[in-house]
Amino acid sequence: MMEIIKINQLTKKYGGTTEVLKGIDLTVHQGEVFGFVGHNGAGKSTLIHTITGIINKSSGSFEIMGFPDKQIDKAKKEMGVMPDISNLYEHMKGIHFLRYMGELVGDQRSKKDYESLMKDVGLEGAEKKKIKSYSFGMKKKISIAQALLGNPNLIILDEPTSGLDPESAIKIRKLVTRLQEQGKTILLTSHNLDEIDKVSDRVGILSDGVIKKLGTPRQLKEEMEAGLSISIRTKPILQEDYIQVLSKKLEMDLNFVETKKEYTLLNVASDNDIPKLSIELIDSGVLLYEIKVEQRSLEDVFMNT
Ligand SMILES: Nc1ncnc2c1ncn2[C@@H]1O[C@H](COP(=O)(O)OP(=O)(O)OP(=O)(O)O)[C@@H](O)[C@H]1O
Ligand SMILES: [Mg+2]
Repeated sequence: MMEIIKINQLTKKYGGTTEVLKGIDLTVHQGEVFGFVGHNGAGKSTLIHTITGIINKSSGSFEIMGFPDKQIDKAKKEMGVMPDISNLYEHMKGIHFLRYMGELVGDQRSKKDYESLMKDVGLEGAEKKKIKSYSFGMKKKISIAQALLGNPNLIILDEPTSGLDPESAIKIRKLVTRLQEQGKTILLTSHNLDEIDKVSDRVGILSDGVIKKLGTPRQLKEEMEAGLSISIRTKPILQEDYIQVLSKKLEMDLNFVETKKEYTLLNVASDNDIPKLSIELIDSGVLLYEIKVEQRSLEDVFMNT
């Protein structure tokens, strides 16, 4: 499998400030959709700006399509980038802007194909409107279209769906999947893990300047399901010290979270703990009304830590 992006101990620090990227290692292969997730300020855009040559790295190295970072210019014609902030020619009409930018990168598509590109990103009907009259979401969409000009092999999209309405976001996710079917490699970012995991083959969670977790969405989900949150309704309400007693007695990893109305919230290590716990409660004379397993999203597990 061909390595399209190879990043090795990459760091970035702006001026004299602390490091924003503290040693990133990552390999992305041809045909893969890789998603970077992280909170605002995690360093997603910094990473993209660095590997696309918009800003300079501080240390470490990277390769794009076999070209080392010093020769990044050679990789640029195979790369389509949608940075987080882009300079759109506001006075141009949407379709004219795309054709103009396309000509600059030697895009060979026909007039009709430019129209279908507008449609692919959800801008049908806006072809003849000036970009300055576009909404935030529309500007985002035309930036995505711009990143696809010249038929690049590697497509890098910084937050392609943030700020889009749900329907538009679905459209962009479908577009990403179609591009992958054409054999493209795609790197994208989002601050929403549950959204990016729908299109990504692998996901990296960027936090504190490092990739805190890396895996397929399935792997992350499995890891998440290794621990469950449950809420129990009993009389009397189970208090923290009693949970500790139970935890010792049953040799389980029960973690008290809080009591809420008649419920006690707990974390358990596995769902096998639930029947054992309920038998113990009944045996000790506690009135057990209800046990609910709380659904946790990937977001809850990996991002709120
Ligand atoms: N040009 C700059 N000069 C100094 N610090 C910067 C610069 N650009 C970004 N930073 C800092 O680097 C950190 C990471 O910013 P970055 O924009 O990469 O985060 P992000 O993950 O893209 O966030 P967001 O989700 O808001 O887009 C932040 O603390 C930010 O303040
Ligand atoms: Mg950003």
